Amino acid sequence: MDKVNFSLNGKIALVTGASRGIGRAIATTLADYGAQVIIVSRKADALEAAAEQISSRGGKADAMVCNVGDIKQIEHLCSSVAEKYGKLNILVNNAATNPYFGDMLGANESLWNKTFDVNLKGPFFLIQAAAKLMMHAGGGAIVNVSSINGVRPAPLQGMYSITKAAVICMTQAFAKELAPMKIRVNAILPGLVNTDFSKVIMSNDQIYQYAINMIPMRRHSEPMEIAGAVLYLVSDAAPFTTGACLVVDGGALA
Ligand SMILES: NC(=O)c1ccc[n+]([C@@H]2O[C@H](COP(=O)([O-])OP(=O)(O)OC[C@H]3O[C@@H](n4cnc5c(N)ncnc54)[C@H](OP(=O)(O)O)[C@@H]3O)[C@@H](O)[C@H]2O)c1
Repeated sequence: MDKVNFSLNGKIALVTGASRGIGRAIATTLADYGAQVIIVSRKADALEAAAEQISSRGGKADAMVCNVGDIKQIEHLCSSVAEKYGKLNILVNNAATNPYFGDMLGANESLWNKTFDVNLKGPFFLIQAAAKLMMHAGGGAIVNVSSINGVRPAPLQGMYSITKAAVICMTQAFAKELAPMKIRVNAILPGLVNTDFSKVIMSNDQIYQYAINMIPMRRHSEPMEIAGAVLYLVSDAAPFTTGACLVVDGGALA
């Protein structure tokens, strides 16, 4: 019987939103397990700092700037990857935005467009371009970072929650379409994680207590607690897993 294999030696992995928070923890973990990681966000300085940190623990990281809400920049990113590495084995669609914390009745079209461009349109076209590179590599693994809000919309985060529900559907639709090409597509659904993104919740005692009371483990998580789930899904330890939504939420959805 073969040993379960979590090694990513020889794999090229692209992680969006990897300059901080959950994406940085994911990129660091994939590099820890042997992948050459391409880390992506909008700000070069923050990416360089993340790349240095990954290198300092023995990993290989390459920083590439891209706003994933802009299709032209996605095309440029993918042609740079093709030119430099000639292949892609792993994609983690992690970057997202939530520019509006409030009732949906008060939202406007520009907030809608920004939220949907970054959280849904960009990841869709990145999968499309990445899948073509993965086919040349004989297959691959994609993980989309959704949220438990995509299953149970949180108060004041309605519009963001709609994008995260669509990310779940997009994951399942691509999983079916890409399975014959040996490309697995899965999603993770984090609960409350301590990052800049969740500051609006973490820094307000009343909102934080409300959120914590929904979590059976009665605590939030740290970014590294999410990374292991992604490692499992992108590695050869999960060869028969596609179209899955792995919830990492301290029991909140249970
Ligand atoms: N934190 C939570 O409680 C929580 C819970 C459930 C799900 N999630 C999901 O987890 C993922 C990561 O969130 P996080 O909490 O780690 O957020 P974060 O700490 O705010 O990090 C977001 C990352 O995305 C990048 N980014 C933002 N907009 C971008 C764009 N348009 N193009 C490219 N990169 C962009 C940021 O870098 P730049 O600013 O340099 O671009 C940064 O690297 C998101 O999909 C989020 O929806 C988070």
